[in-house]
Amino acid sequence: MIGSHPEFEHIPTARRPEPRRSRSTRNSSKTTPLGRHFAINACLAPLYSLEGMHIITVEGIGNCRRGLHPVQERLAEAHGSQCGFCTPGFVMSMYALLRSSKQPPTKEQIEDSLAGNLCRCTGYRPIIDAFGVFAKTDDSLYTASPSESANGKAICPSTGKPCLCRNETDVNGNESSLLSSVKTYLPSSYNEIDGNAYNEKELIFPPELQLRKIMPLRLNGFNGVRWYRPLKLDQLLQLKSCYPEAKLIIGNSEVGVETEFKNAQYGVMISVTHVPELHTLKVEEDGLRIGSAVRLAQLQDFLKKVIAERGSLQTSSCQAILRQLKWFAGTQIRNVASVGGNICTASPISDLNPLWMSTGATFQIIDVNNNVRTTVAKDFFLGYRKVDLKDDEVLLSVILPWTRPFEYVKEFKQAHRRQDDIALVNAGMRVHITEAEGNWIVSDVSIVYGGVAAVPLTAGKTESFLVGKKLDYGLLDEAFNLLKEDIPLAENAPGGMVEFRSSLTLSFFFKFFLYVTHEMNTKGLSEGLDVANMSAIQSYTRPVTTGTQGYELVRQGTAVGQPMVHLSAMLQLPNFPLGSLVSSSQKMCPVLTILGQLDSSKKRILGQLSMMGRFLHLMSLLVLARSLESLWQTPMIMQKLLQIK
Ligand SMILES: Cc1cc2nc3c(=O)[nH]c(=O)nc-3n(C[C@H](O)[C@H](O)[C@H](O)COP(=O)(O)OP(=O)(O)OC[C@H]3O[C@@H](n4cnc5c(N)ncnc54)[C@H](O)[C@@H]3O)c2cc1C
Ligand code: FES
Repeated sequence: MIGSHPEFEHIPTARRPEPRRSRSTRNSSKTTPLGRHFAINACLAPLYSLEGMHIITVEGIGNCRRGLHPVQERLAEAHGSQCGFCTPGFVMSMYALLRSSKQPPTKEQIEDSLAGNLCRCTGYRPIIDAFGVFAKTDDSLYTASPSESANGKAICPSTGKPCLCRNETDVNGNESSLLSSVKTYLPSSYNEIDGNAYNEKELIFPPELQLRKIMPLRLNGFNGVRWYRPLKLDQLLQLKSCYPEAKLIIGNSEVGVETEFKNAQYGVMISVTHVPELHTLKVEEDGLRIGSAVRLAQLQDFLKKVIAERGSLQTSSCQAILRQLKWFAGTQIRNVASVGGNICTASPISDLNPLWMSTGATFQIIDVNNNVRTTVAKDFFLGYRKVDLKDDEVLLSVILPWTRPFEYVKEFKQAHRRQDDIALVNAGMRVHITEAEGNWIVSDVSIVYGGVAAVPLTAGKTESFLVGKKLDYGLLDEAFNLLKEDIPLAENAPGGMVEFRSSLTLSFFFKFFLYVTHEMNTKGLSEGLDVANMSAIQSYTRPVTTGTQGYELVRQGTAVGQPMVHLSAMLQLPNFPLGSLVSSSQKMCPVLTILGQLDSSKKRILGQLSMMGRFLHLMSLLVLARSLESLWQTPMIMQKLLQIK
């Protein structure tokens, strides 16, 4: 990746070892930071693929000893962490967004950046509230006292309307808060060592890595696995001719799942992330040229730019792909997953393949002898996860043609959940309407569905029926009948929910019909839509989340019922506490001494656990170990730390 970008990359991940900060770089935030920050999923990032990059982990950005990072601090204070399982992921997503934004991000950007993070406990309100303070927004929303309206009533910072959300004291002296989520932000750094404000210590890109020359890699792993990283297309083709069966890797978001969960094994892997010829992003006369190794997040940025420059007429396909990418996985996946990886995986539920097919995209393929051939996307998918690519061939690029006047493209995806979910059914549809003898008729149409068969299916009969006809309501019944024939779903079709999915295929087409009718109507070439149907043509945009939690605070002289930050939150934010069994030859054994450097809070935890162990008459003692580099080291280190009687 470094070879293909002018900048270096930082890869923030949750729970990964952090390279030590050198003395010269520590606390030197004045140095201009180089590089871009990407949040990625640590579990899908092979260590080899990170060579030359700066890995920033949740432990690295702040901890209880050096001080929590403001992102960590906010999450704890706003009650955004309960069991703490998801917490490192949320922290790193937010951290990466802040580090990669030149301006404070908007609330929409914050929510988008968290789309790949799931939490089972807290609900998302406290998490989103916690990070809201980093958004470019009205500061008054985050002050303790809501502003007042003309009649003296408090204005709710959330809704902007008069309300009772100001804290009040009832007749019994109990404090009642109807808006717990909006509170003053008081930084509460948890510094046991030097007490510096955290922003004095923001991590920079290590100078050692700035000086590092990018080299081709040949690494040997366990069980004879070999990992190559060529730096040029020539080198890649040479490797491919030596190892035709070698697995190409880009984002590893597909291969990683295959090897982790499906027991797939690949002896030779070629990472093509540093091959510049596969990273092309070019505006050409006949369309866009998109290199196969281009990452989806990069493609999003590029499409936005092209659409802004070229206007809507030529870019209907670009707009459809951009809209589809919004609902493609989450940020962490889009930061690594590539265009070519998605195409060559040929998943029946790929969100992009129906669109490449319907837009008339073509694929350029190169073989080990440097011969380049072009195939239309429609002919590329041969069967279940099978594509028209020989062992000695590599997908080079995709050509996405410009759209013509009166040519409309639309994307569809229905999943159980909007974000970070795979499609139940998806589709790409395109129609070109031209004038013939005073009538505006369909001259070309393409309707492709995903999630309905082993490969994306083209609705051939429906397409033939529509060509040459005027697109109006009278066509719909026949088109629906033909669609049912084109896209049959057997009762026992894989994926189930057959009736629902069948109805989706029809409703997608109906929406497409309404969309095109509306577009033609805006040009005065078609009748208008019923008001009742207008909502069907709008792409879904999720409003920024707002929410409040109302509850009564009843003081009982204890912490019970009070909205207090729970103690373990501060420990969860840098890392989730690890548990390990330490065996003992005697029962009821107390911990006599703790060897090594543990701060007081850890000693307290160990002490409490020791008491608990005695109380429960357990043969073994559960020890919580924090800040240890890896799980598998824990038992060994804890044996050393504890002197057990
Ligand atoms: C959490 C999660 C969510 C996801 N959500 C979605 C979703 O919403 N929609 C969706 O469609 N998919 C989704 N996916 C699937 C996945 O992200 C995509 O298929 C992704 O685009 C694959 O790209 P990659 O670079 O990671 O591929 P890799 O895993 O690196 O490679 C995938 C395959 O492509 C081959 N390949 C790659 N480049 C080339 C080339 N140039 N020439 C020949 N072969 C090549 C590789 O050899 C390999 O077989 C999701 C995956 C995960 C893990
Ligand atoms: S899963 Fe999010 S705090 Fe438990």
